[in-house]
Parts: sequence; structure tokens; C-alpha cells
Amino acid sequence: MKRYVVGCGELVLSPGDITALAVDAIVNAANERMLGGGGVDGAIHRAAGPGLVEACRQITEVRPDVRCPTGEARITDGCELPARYVIHTVGPIYVDAGRSAPLLRAAYRSSLALANDHDLRSVAFPAISCGVFGYPLADAATVALQACRDDIGQLRRVQFALFDADAFRAFATAADQLFHPLLEPPG
Ligand code: AR6
Repeated sequence: MKRYVVGCGELVLSPGDITALAVDAIVNAANERMLGGGGVDGAIHRAAGPGLVEACRQITEVRPDVRCPTGEARITDGCELPARYVIHTVGPIYVDAGRSAPLLRAAYRSSLALANDHDLRSVAFPAISCGVFGYPLADAATVALQACRDDIGQLRRVQFALFDADAFRAFATAADQLFHPLLEPPG
């Protein structure tokens, strides 16, 4: 685990499964339909139980089969998860940095704004778009961490649950460039 100072809060990079985290909200790397999928989306739905897909169905469609357009975010209850809420966001399918970075940044910013609107203190993200959506890890880490630096708001803790070692390394490298480490008090 690595910890850094961000705004008035802390940034935490941790290895492992986001569904185990007892934070105010975990963020789901969803798709626009918001009714589940593979990767972290599938893991979150399995851990949350069938109540989560029911909660997602209640979200109004903005057009047929689209509850959450790419770059936006929606919030539901966390159901059987240790987290109180799930914030569902949709990152871009990677095309190139010019077209994809603004949408990835928007996914993080929308999620952080929603967490702040709900007066949450702690939120955990996966590496959005870095699985089947194919975003290169180093570039995604920089976009993600810059968004946290700029839009942390009143949050006290932003955590990244990085499932694989490559993702953890990429985020740690980017965080070392952007932030000061959080030093533990002596003793
Ligand atoms: N905890 C934390 N991170 C995880 C977990 C977990 N339990 N499981 C996987 N990851 P992906 P995307 C990591 O593919 O690229 C879905 O089908 C994974 O190693 O889940 O945004 C949705 O429905 C990777 O680093 O999300 C969409 O259709 C990261 O999470 C589509 O995939 C994201 O990988 C979204 O694709």
C-alpha cells in the first residue's frame, strides 16, 4: 500500500479487490447500459447481490439502453457490499490519447463530483478503462491521478484498488511524480 497527500486528504494505492473495501462508495467501471458485465463490473454485481441490478434498473434511461453515457456517473445503494454506495461510471473504449483522455478525465471528475454532492468522505476507484476497454496503463494512471488532484473537493480519502501488479506499478509511478508521500508520525 502507498499513501500520498492530496489537497486536505489522502490518496491511497492498494493492491487487490475493490469489492472488499468498507469505504463510503466504490466506483464501478460500468457500461452505458448499467446492468452488469465482466471484469470489475461483474465482480461488484456478484458481491453486491441481485439488489444492485434492480437498483440500476431504476436509473432513468437517457436514450434506449443508455442509463449512463460515457464520461458521466450515477449512484446507487451498495446493497450487500461493505461500501454504502456504488458510483457507476463509464470510461471510454481507448482509441487514442487525444480522443480518449477527455472522456476518461470526465468519468473520474463526474464520480468525484457525485461523491462530493452526497457529502461522502471516502471513495475507491478501480483502474477505469484499463481492462477490456484497452486504455494504456501509464496514460490512464496520469489522467486518473490528475483528476483526483484537481477535483478531490471535500473527500478525505481517495483510494485506488489495483487488481493486478502492472496496474499497481503504473499508478505508483504516476503518483510518485504528482504527489508527496504521506509520512507516518514517528512512534
Ligand atoms: N477489483 C479491482 N479491480 C478489478 C477487479 C476487482 N475485483 N476486477 C478487475 N479489475 P475492466 P473497463 C481491474 O475490464 O476496461 C465490463 O464488462 C482490471 O484488472 O473491468 O473499464 C463493463 O461492463 C482492470 O485493471 O473495465 C464494461 O463493458 C480494471 O479493473 C467494460 O467491462 C478495469 O477493467 C468496462 O471496461
